Amino acid sequence: VKNVEGKTAVITGGASGIGFGMASVFADAGMNIVLLDIEQSVLDGAVKTLKDQGAKAVGYLVDVTNRAAMADIAEASKAAFGEVNILCNNAGVNAAGPIDQLTYEDWDWVLGVNLNGVVNGLVSYLPELKRHGADAHIVNTASVGGLLGMANLAPYNASKFAVVGISESLRADLAEVGVGVSVLCPGIVRTNLESSSRNRPMHLKKTGEIAGPGDGSTLAAGADPLDIGQEVLEAIQTNKFFICTHPEFKDFVRQRNGALEAAFHGNADPEAVTAMSAILKSF
Ligand SMILES: NC(=O)c1ccc[n+]([C@@H]2O[C@H](COP(=O)([O-])OP(=O)(O)OC[C@H]3O[C@@H](n4cnc5c(N)ncnc54)[C@H](O)[C@@H]3O)[C@@H](O)[C@H]2O)c1
Repeated sequence: VKNVEGKTAVITGGASGIGFGMASVFADAGMNIVLLDIEQSVLDGAVKTLKDQGAKAVGYLVDVTNRAAMADIAEASKAAFGEVNILCNNAGVNAAGPIDQLTYEDWDWVLGVNLNGVVNGLVSYLPELKRHGADAHIVNTASVGGLLGMANLAPYNASKFAVVGISESLRADLAEVGVGVSVLCPGIVRTNLESSSRNRPMHLKKTGEIAGPGDGSTLAAGADPLDIGQEVLEAIQTNKFFICTHPEFKDFVRQRNGALEAAFHGNADPEAVTAMSAILKSF
């Protein structure tokens, strides 16, 4: 989508963190903004901030795991500004810990939001996006956790590898109609992800808290969500597929790709894989 001015963007999980960073950058570029989020007070504040910034913005309270609600909101968001051109499937949560200590509720919650939420966004908005062809674009938020497996992050890794896979498939599916696709794979970003259990529904609460979310200190030193938003805007304008915002992860990805490639030549290198796991334990 070369000319984004006057286009409408829907951003799930748009009230906070990376989603709000995108919203703010898109608003400055003259786009209309539709924020979807599960946290009403933060959503209200985010919409107000965007309007104060001079943007046309609306917010809808919705849980991305609720298929019927997502279908209704897709209709409402089309009506808000007449059309939807950009969809950012961005809402995400994390429950961390070693696999043998994670509960089924941990898996259901993380896969429900991070994976099914993306599926629901696609099913709800694809007919409208396809109508706009090359004037439409989809950005799915994965993570470096969608490119590299890391200790204590199994549900998160599973969801994010799936989002990368869905995005690759989608790009191929949509090539003919011209709708662009990007997958965002950031490293550490200064957001509220470590307190994502604030939005965990009662029926998926865990009984015994284990490692759980951190205290916010890990992400505090991360990248500015506005800088991530800027990279996403450029990817939408140039139809760039992978958005890799954190070069410090490049060597880990190279190491993983090297081990994978070697395996195809019958040269699987167990030492490379072991070294890779050891390095990633620190994240
Ligand atoms: N912060 C990082 O370091 C980092 C790194 C890589 C990827 N990501 C990804 O970025 C995305 C955004 O996360 P963030 O870091 O900005 O965290 P955040 O907690 O600041 O923002 C996430 C937003 O999603 C909303 N949300 C949560 N569950 C929802 C649901 N069921 N339905 C609708 N909205 C829901 C929250 O209310 C919140 O506004 C996530 O997909 C996350 O996995 C974050």
